[in-house]
Amino acid sequence: MDGDLAEQSVIPDRMPLEHSCVSPEAGRLSGPMMPIVSSCLRATHLDSSRNQKRSPVGLQVLLKRRDQFDAKGDTELRSMNKSNELNEQALQHMPGQHSNLPGYELFKPIFIVRGDKAHLWDVDGNEYVDYMAGLGGGILGYGNQEFLEAVRKQLDTLYYLDAARRNPLEIELADKLSHYLPSAERVRYLLSGTEAVQLAIRLARAYTKRRYFIRFDGHYHGWLDNVLGGVVNENAVGPPFALDSDKDPFKSLGRDPLAAEQSFKLPWNDISVLENVLEEYGEEVALILMEPINCNGGSCPPRPGYLERVRELCNRYGIVLGFDEIITGFRVGLSGAQGLLKVTPDLTTLGKGVAGGIPFSVVAGKTEIMDMLRERRVIGAGTFNGYPLGVAAALATIRILEKDSGAFYKRMDKIQNRLMSGLKEVAKRYGTPMLMQGPRGVFFYQFIDKEVAYNVRDWADADHQKQERFRQLLFDDGILILFRGRWYVSGGHTEEDVDKTLEIADRAMHELVSESNK
Ligand SMILES: Cc1ncc(COP(=O)(O)O)c(C=O)c1O
Repeated sequence: MDGDLAEQSVIPDRMPLEHSCVSPEAGRLSGPMMPIVSSCLRATHLDSSRNQKRSPVGLQVLLKRRDQFDAKGDTELRSMNKSNELNEQALQHMPGQHSNLPGYELFKPIFIVRGDKAHLWDVDGNEYVDYMAGLGGGILGYGNQEFLEAVRKQLDTLYYLDAARRNPLEIELADKLSHYLPSAERVRYLLSGTEAVQLAIRLARAYTKRRYFIRFDGHYHGWLDNVLGGVVNENAVGPPFALDSDKDPFKSLGRDPLAAEQSFKLPWNDISVLENVLEEYGEEVALILMEPINCNGGSCPPRPGYLERVRELCNRYGIVLGFDEIITGFRVGLSGAQGLLKVTPDLTTLGKGVAGGIPFSVVAGKTEIMDMLRERRVIGAGTFNGYPLGVAAALATIRILEKDSGAFYKRMDKIQNRLMSGLKEVAKRYGTPMLMQGPRGVFFYQFIDKEVAYNVRDWADADHQKQERFRQLLFDDGILILFRGRWYVSGGHTEEDVDKTLEIADRAMHELVSESNK
């Protein structure tokens, strides 16, 4: 059905507002999509040909490492003068080092000017291997020509539009989403993940005529008042609303104090806690919202049977089940975690990688719920909703991912397996207990002696300081990973990138172990 504009005649059957349905079932990609769960982890020789420079992390470390390098004939150290200058200027205009969540700061401010595949270059000419991938948006890597051509074509022809006039590509995209994503009987296009989640909450409330929703510890659903942070109240005597706490990394001044009372916050992957809460409040709950694989909490897989039981409970109490697949959507596969784990929610949110790094998000779901958007019953507005560039980018992303029976994913699996097993080898070589787990495209590690972590609490005893130091050592050698130990793998990564990463990881681990033996 690709590109078949004869399908335009069925627009009204694909998207709610003025439209209705399509079969979600046929022809999903299959492949090695099961969550990869594993434990433990290092690489040895320096690549003498490499042109890496390093940042001055602290004089002692720097001098020590320079000596090491001198011994290997590599005397170049990273200069960050231009980035430092720009940082000074930026601080005069902008509050904080960047425009996202506090905690995303790198060890030194770097200003990036170019990306190619999985490589970034800063203003000082330093090169990085990027495992941050635009916080997950960059599933294809930078400079994918097929993607760029589709986006450029759209840019040249039509890149903005008012909501009342529509772009034929919207239907093609709806077709593709319905085809691959089990819950996508209807779709709605928005711009950011945060917005998509808010629309899902509103739809669930409108559909059930109930107020509360349930969310979980370690899951992230955007920065707005009703979903941001809060700490699980273990001793709640009434409804289990989240508590405000100074220990909460997401604590923010300026939130509506009553926002916490819109939802119950529970530990994830603990079915008895959920059952108990529903026994008391089940008839008042509109939505159970979760990441089906908890990427934000450490790429935790659901316990066997957990999602199935949640699905049953939702059916029993008439609660809408919402999967936030803003990370997993398209990353673990075109059918998302729901296809992989074979549990179909009522509503799904997609964002980040859905349009290969161009801002775009989707709410997809059951016809009867999504149809609340018809006839002005539920409003989900936005100047940029259905933004043609985002639609074209999402369509191009799907086409690349589905091509040649999912060859893209097969290649990505190979790269990720090589990286994860290499890192585990590194840790093992140095006798450092490490747990590393995650599905395709996004994995997580911490220094902890465990086989698997099922929720954020399972990571509680990890040596976070050691993890941060390891991340810093990687950063010093030009390897960018996310804070708390998250790695995104993209289609831009190559076997050479992995080999280089493993060499650097070995060196970093060597240093880490020597430091902790002092
Ligand atoms: C699972 C999940 N949901 C929602 C969001 C919010 O998306 P955005 O930052 O695009 O608003 C994020 C962002 O990290 C996320 O990881």
